[in-house]
Amino acid sequence: MTVPETATERLPSVDPQTFRKVMGSFASGVTIVTTCDAEGRPRGFTCSAFCSVSADPPLLTSGVSSHSSTLRAIRECGRFAVNVLDSRGREVSQLFASRAVDKFARVRWRPGEASGMPLLHNTVAHAECELHEAVPAGDHTLLLGRVIGGGAEQDRLPLAYWRGGYARLL
Ligand SMILES: Cc1cc2nc3c(=O)[nH]c(=O)nc-3n(C[C@H](O)[C@H](O)[C@H](O)COP(=O)(O)O)c2cc1C
Repeated sequence: MTVPETATERLPSVDPQTFRKVMGSFASGVTIVTTCDAEGRPRGFTCSAFCSVSADPPLLTSGVSSHSSTLRAIRECGRFAVNVLDSRGREVSQLFASRAVDKFARVRWRPGEASGMPLLHNTVAHAECELHEAVPAGDHTLLLGRVIGGGAEQDRLPLAYWRGGYARLL
């Protein structure tokens, strides 16, 4: 196939199955994105779509489905935290991927020093963020967070996620 000099026509998208296969082959960690709702209650969901965006200012992005009930709380709060799970985090990942109403009653957590957002135990790292921008993208929204606090545990291994299953690095 030749590439036209000026690509004016819109080519059809790949089928959803191929898209899932391709993207699922990219190994990632697993994060829990947390925030507080208007009543000050902790909220959160499991998110593997996470990456660094900018060093100056320090920006990261988490991709969240427009159907996520946590998205609205993040928009209203204007802050969120990203908790990178350690290798013991499978159950926590499954819990925060569910619609359970008592997610935070079943894990250990504390309010973050910089943002007040919930920080979970059993993580390899965390980032506390101010919401810089929420960019709609298809059926998802890219949360751009400016990092205002964070830390990493040197002696723990992360939980990995690849092709729809959890994995350990070593
Ligand atoms: C390993 C794993 C990774 C996930 N990654 C994402 C993600 O990157 N973005 C997203 O919107 N949902 C992701 N999900 C699904 C959400 O966690 C799930 O839809 C959750 O119910 C949303 O919660 P909420 O509606 O209370 O916000 C993931 C689920 C699992 C198990």
